[in-house]
Amino acid sequence: MSADTATTNMMEACSSGDLAAVLSILDDAFDDGADTPGGEYAAATTADHNDDGNDDAVDYVKNGIDDDDDDRLHLERTLPPPPPPHPPNEKPPTTRLLGTRRHLLASAQDATTGLSPLMVASRAGHIEICRALLNAGAPWNALDRMGMCAGDHAVAGEWWDVVDLLVDVGTRSELILGASIRLSRSIGGGSARTDADFDTTTSSGSECTTMTTTTASTTSTEAIPVSHEPSTKPSYLNHSNVRYDASCTLLLDDDDDAVMMEWERPIMEAHASVLTHGGRRGMRVLNVGFGLGIVDAALQAHGPSMHVIIEAHPTVHAKMIADGWDKRDNVRICYGRWQEEMPKLIAEGAKFDGIFYDTYGEHFTDLEDFHDAMSKVLDVPNGVYSFFNGLAPDNLFFHGVACSCIKAQLSHMGLDAEFAQCEISSNAAGADETWEGVRRRYWHGRSTYYLPVITWKKKED
Ligand SMILES: C[S@@+](CC[C@H](N)C(=O)[O-])C[C@H]1O[C@@H](n2cnc3c(N)ncnc32)[C@H](O)[C@@H]1O
Repeated sequence: MSADTATTNMMEACSSGDLAAVLSILDDAFDDGADTPGGEYAAATTADHNDDGNDDAVDYVKNGIDDDDDDRLHLERTLPPPPPPHPPNEKPPTTRLLGTRRHLLASAQDATTGLSPLMVASRAGHIEICRALLNAGAPWNALDRMGMCAGDHAVAGEWWDVVDLLVDVGTRSELILGASIRLSRSIGGGSARTDADFDTTTSSGSECTTMTTTTASTTSTEAIPVSHEPSTKPSYLNHSNVRYDASCTLLLDDDDDAVMMEWERPIMEAHASVLTHGGRRGMRVLNVGFGLGIVDAALQAHGPSMHVIIEAHPTVHAKMIADGWDKRDNVRICYGRWQEEMPKLIAEGAKFDGIFYDTYGEHFTDLEDFHDAMSKVLDVPNGVYSFFNGLAPDNLFFHGVACSCIKAQLSHMGLDAEFAQCEISSNAAGADETWEGVRRRYWHGRSTYYLPVITWKKKED
């Protein structure tokens, strides 16, 4: 069967819910193999994943998710195996293809619409077909020409079991990806932040995600639209033209991207209330990232007994001094990166009732690293931690997966993450005037903000 015919038949079977036909097309592709490099390895690795998941990353994901004791998360999803480590200058073995054509077929996207078999099956609610396609290697996060992923199609069709399946698969993939990035960092590999293959979904200037996407509309010869550029900026702290506007309601970096904007004020005030346990006075609070000082002003309004602010950019630090933050009795400024300042606070034995993280240009894995440090200074058992939740803001489904990843990671550390729905009543976030002079929008008028409320798990949990 030609590839085109197989793809057409696959799309039809996915739409009509013909599981037997989908499996038969995938099996045909499996039998149709040719001699291809690397096939043997692919088969061996897949078998390992299926056997017992004794891959550390997989165990971590399973254990993290199992902690929640949620049966729907116990999937036997097999992820595409990582490439084998080849000794330099040695050719990979040539063996019979196992799975590659199958994978291509499961991953195919219509040239006009960008629809994939998984999107078609998700839209129609055929969960077993979705499972079969995912097992054959269909990417959960591919986008069609409308910018919709399979999860969006499942949401549109109100197929909540399919939505759950895709969230689970996405969470596992992202956690494994995060683990492999950390591993490549620790063994001295190139920085994932600058890896062109590792496209980050646009996020707020201050937040980031590992969410990777394949899109029907982007080819290697097309220019990457601004909205698809990675939002991580490892060089931000060296930017020399970081500046406030005249009314001090906007902080821009060298590229005219917004570091912080005034429209976030209601969100910051909500965070300050959560961090002070509902506006209680006398709390010990820590904020990482001063920006426009909105959350710090809101924290001050609740009369904390101790208020530590970590800030690393010289321009922002100068503004803090100019505004007299260093003169306040209950405020201590730690000028430097949290990566260096947090270990000092840990060594001092500092403890906080409320901790907030809102930096800029950092990577999802930085946020995860911060969690490690944060857990050492968050008061037990009553401390509350939160962060600005700009994870994958362009796509609600990806946002949900990112929140699910955070929940799994924190659960592993004995912390419970809830996401409180806050309605943003002002229209400022969506108004065109708000974004004048800002190169890239990092929020697209979504009116619900999911505010993370992270606390230690109760003993009985
Ligand atoms: C989005 S702004 C914070 C906004 C703040 N929440 C407010 O209410 O205005 C991010 C801030 O984090 C600072 N920052 C970025 N990376 C940092 C790091 N590694 N350590 C400490 N501060 C950092 C930036 O200079 C910037 O002032």
